[in-house]
Amino acid sequence: LWTPENIADDAISRVQAQVGTDQVLLGLSGGVDSSVVAALLHKAIGDQLTCVFVDNGLLRKNEGDQVMAMFADNMGIKVIRADAEDEFLMGLAGVADPEAKRKIIGKTFIDIFDREAAKLATSPDHPVKWLAQGTIYPDVIESAASKTGKAHVIKSHHNVGGLPEHMAMQLVEPLRELFKDEVRKLGVALGLPEDMVYRHPFPGPGLGVRILGEVKKEYADLLREADAIFIEELRRSGWYAKTSQAFVVFLPVKSVGVVGDARRYSWVVSLRAVETIDFMTARWAHLPYELLEKVSNRIINEISGISRVAYDVSSKPPATIEWE
Ligand code: XMP
Repeated sequence: LWTPENIADDAISRVQAQVGTDQVLLGLSGGVDSSVVAALLHKAIGDQLTCVFVDNGLLRKNEGDQVMAMFADNMGIKVIRADAEDEFLMGLAGVADPEAKRKIIGKTFIDIFDREAAKLATSPDHPVKWLAQGTIYPDVIESAASKTGKAHVIKSHHNVGGLPEHMAMQLVEPLRELFKDEVRKLGVALGLPEDMVYRHPFPGPGLGVRILGEVKKEYADLLREADAIFIEELRRSGWYAKTSQAFVVFLPVKSVGVVGDARRYSWVVSLRAVETIDFMTARWAHLPYELLEKVSNRIINEISGISRVAYDVSSKPPATIEWE
């Protein structure tokens, strides 16, 4: 019988049998899949689990603190937070091409993860043997069908093939047979809050692909504020659950505005919201004008570095969901 409780019990005993008394490492992104794996493994093996959370400076507002509060403070899971904003931003300096940015972000992520994993080894001869991953069934199919799908790039970096040889870790993938909706139900059964389990997807490279062209801290800081306002208003109006993915994109373009008596010359952002089942095709969300108006006014009034807000009315295809 498929109930989340049965799936949880079954997965827990399988993990226990698989890893015995060994230590297990998990890259925790705060996304649904890795979060459910963290909750599950914590139930199964307690303190044998160590999570590494990489703060790359490309996260949404307060995201790092929220992940630490939920997993470390609330659930008592061992989480190492690697604050690596400078390292990521330095690596990205001067780079404008989307795929080049993805590669740099992926590689920097691996470097940091590797470094943290090496620190956890009891000795150079006894590295951590197990690496847990939030691979779900669609990822398995997708990577079998195509090794080049960009949505898979970040996850494939976590695979053994992408990890440095000397780590030679074996995989623990307790969600491998589950679909996304099953993973969500499992998360709720494991005690994760609904609003985290039903979050919109967030790409591995994060704000790095939502800042068009070169990534700068100034842009990321502005984008974080604008995005937080958009998401807050979507939640408040009930539209968050009616859209599949919604976010703000930073355009490195300046535009004139007027605030009070003063002329302002600052940055432009675009709102993006889509409805989709499978993320392969998507329709731009027909958000109410009143909602768009409220979000736009708040962004321009509350963030002095932004002078203009646009709304993206492109569907996929021919556009993609992300702008890069
Ligand atoms: P596109 O823009 O290709 O996005 O229509 C489809 C879905 O994939 C996500 N996406 C990514 N996820 N790494 C990820 O982990 C990436 O490089 C990446 N690029 C796009 C996007 O957010 C959407 O959900």
